[in-house]
Amino acid sequence: MMKHLVIGGAGYIGGVCVEKLIERGDAVVVLDHLGTGHRENVHPNAIFIQGEKGDSKLLDKIFSEHKIDTVLDFAGLIQVGESVKKPSKYFQNNFCQGVSLLDSMRRNGVDKIIFSSTAAVFGNPKTVPITEEADKSPINPYGESKYFFELAIKRYAEAYDLKYTIFRYFNACGATIMSKEQHINESHLIPLIFQAVKGERANIAVFGTDYETTDGTCIRDYVHIEDLISAHLAAIKYMEKSFRNEFNLGNGSGYSVKEVINAVEKITGKKVPVVFADRREGDPARLIASSEKAKKELGWSPKYPKIEQIIESAWSAELR
Ligand SMILES: NC(=O)c1ccc[n+]([C@@H]2O[C@H](COP(=O)([O-])OP(=O)(O)OC[C@H]3O[C@@H](n4cnc5c(N)ncnc54)[C@H](O)[C@@H]3O)[C@@H](O)[C@H]2O)c1
Repeated sequence: MMKHLVIGGAGYIGGVCVEKLIERGDAVVVLDHLGTGHRENVHPNAIFIQGEKGDSKLLDKIFSEHKIDTVLDFAGLIQVGESVKKPSKYFQNNFCQGVSLLDSMRRNGVDKIIFSSTAAVFGNPKTVPITEEADKSPINPYGESKYFFELAIKRYAEAYDLKYTIFRYFNACGATIMSKEQHINESHLIPLIFQAVKGERANIAVFGTDYETTDGTCIRDYVHIEDLISAHLAAIKYMEKSFRNEFNLGNGSGYSVKEVINAVEKITGKKVPVVFADRREGDPARLIASSEKAKKELGWSPKYPKIEQIIESAWSAELR
């Protein structure tokens, strides 16, 4: 039986990974400091350890007590705005602690990592859809902290034979039976719209209506968390023969903010209170992934390609 260490397994996306690994019969150890995660997100059959991924002593203990096949690192701080105000917190958590994790793995002979990176490493892309080869020029400390860790992983692969898969998620969304999006200080569009629909916030602000897009609002690529995790499961197998991998994960089609709002209104049957505001600095007009590489190499095939399917899954979790 394979055993994996899922760091950040009490979070939104990591929790689904734990759920799916256990469903397929693998054993899972979860390490999470619960800073932004929720203990109840962790599948009851997983071993849960509360702690920091940069805690070398704790990592040595975990690796000596459990024979870990793959480390899946979902543990990150994810708020772009906060990262601008508190870069130290982001570089420490997302980069420095990550390097410390790589050293713990190396000391203990654990040589496979799957890392959750982000479309934010691309900054303002010159062209869409964005391929893996596109220039990486992040424009905020969040994106930089993720990109620096990507670079560290690649250097460790060259020097110490680390095997890796880097996934760059676009906009993660949707829900499963166990897990729904409930970030602390939520900043993601779909849960914010739901809050507005449920009267938990006065309205949803749409930043910018004068972009060069069909309806003037920003276009993003929304990808369901179950689809993200199916790519991780495929990668565990793929890494038996291919050791240095990077994939962008999105549906390859974008939806504008207005289109997402319209889809929520259609599915919930409720009017969304909207206010229109100026553009936010640093918001690119279009972020759309090319996921051709993941499809070709991993045989990845998203089950939720349409925004309506994603919103239906997220809304039914709200109603549970
Ligand atoms: N949600 C998205 O749309 C999105 C998009 C692109 C990339 N990502 C990446 O995916 C990963 C998971 O995102 P999420 O939406 O599930 O966020 P989340 O906040 O729900 O989950 C992150 C989890 O990691 C834990 N954690 C953070 N730092 C830690 C540390 N140093 N040690 C131990 N535990 C730690 C948190 O407590 C939390 O449980 C992140 O790394 C994020 O950068 C997310």
